[in-house]
Amino acid sequence: MNAAPLAEQVVVVTGAASGIGRELVLAMTEAGARVLAVDREGRGLEDTCSLAGGVAEPLVLDLLEDRAGERVVEGAVGAFRGIDVLVNCAGIFPSSPALEVATAEWDLVLGLNLRVPFLLSQATARHMVGVGKGGNIINVASAAGAIARPGVAHYCVSKAGLIMLTKVLAIEWAEHDIRVNAVAPGLVETPGVEDLLQTEEGRHEHEQKLAKIPMARTGKPQELAETVIFLASDAASFVTGHALFVDGGYSAGHTFRG
Ligand SMILES: NC(=O)c1ccc[n+]([C@@H]2O[C@H](COP(=O)([O-])OP(=O)(O)OC[C@H]3O[C@@H](n4cnc5c(N)ncnc54)[C@H](O)[C@@H]3O)[C@@H](O)[C@H]2O)c1
Repeated sequence: MNAAPLAEQVVVVTGAASGIGRELVLAMTEAGARVLAVDREGRGLEDTCSLAGGVAEPLVLDLLEDRAGERVVEGAVGAFRGIDVLVNCAGIFPSSPALEVATAEWDLVLGLNLRVPFLLSQATARHMVGVGKGGNIINVASAAGAIARPGVAHYCVSKAGLIMLTKVLAIEWAEHDIRVNAVAPGLVETPGVEDLLQTEEGRHEHEQKLAKIPMARTGKPQELAETVIFLASDAASFVTGHALFVDGGYSAGHTFRG
């Protein structure tokens, strides 16, 4: 196994101030990459970059702003002269029953979880095509993009869309040597998930989710990071248009436990 599978690679990670995104920055710098860490939370971003073992530069940016894709590319070109790998990780996962969900919440979830990854991928791929040496895009989807869950219609649809977007972009951009893949996490221990445990209802739902996971545990952000590093590395040089489920067997089928 190559100890530095991402040596010489410039990586952009969105949602880098917390959770899976933060772990991606730590693991990818460890794997030899130089990383532009993007998030709207400046303080968390600074913490991520100071925790990183290698080179990580922060870019504080609300990804819902106009021209966010272009600003990310400009940031990577300014800091590191280019961009080889984009990881679209920023996302939100509010719960609202379909009978009650407000239009604004629907638009926010679809906006951040689907439109933003498309616009960032488009701006990044335009840059990569201009440079002419290919690249990698990895979308952080969710098992909820394949397995329906009540109370999160907008979230499920956004992640199902992201998995399909991954496939479409993979086949459109294969001729430019740009691989596009997704990881689809199951339940992973992150601050975003811990927030959901603050209410009795949230804790009950969490127990129910755990009971459905064949491996009977949550995943660790490091386990996600290892998968993303694999997809970004030459070890996955013939893998494109794929969604890799990292979910302890959740999407394979249900257990009869619990
Ligand atoms: N944790 C899980 O169990 C789980 C499971 C499946 C999929 N996912 C996906 O993994 C990704 C990361 O999840 P997490 O649990 O680490 O979440 P998290 O809440 O810990 O981190 C999300 C990050 O995205 C950032 N962000 C939100 N809106 C932004 C905006 N407009 N501009 C810039 N940054 C913004 C937040 O500031 C935060 O740092 C999400 O896409 C999520 O859907 C997580």
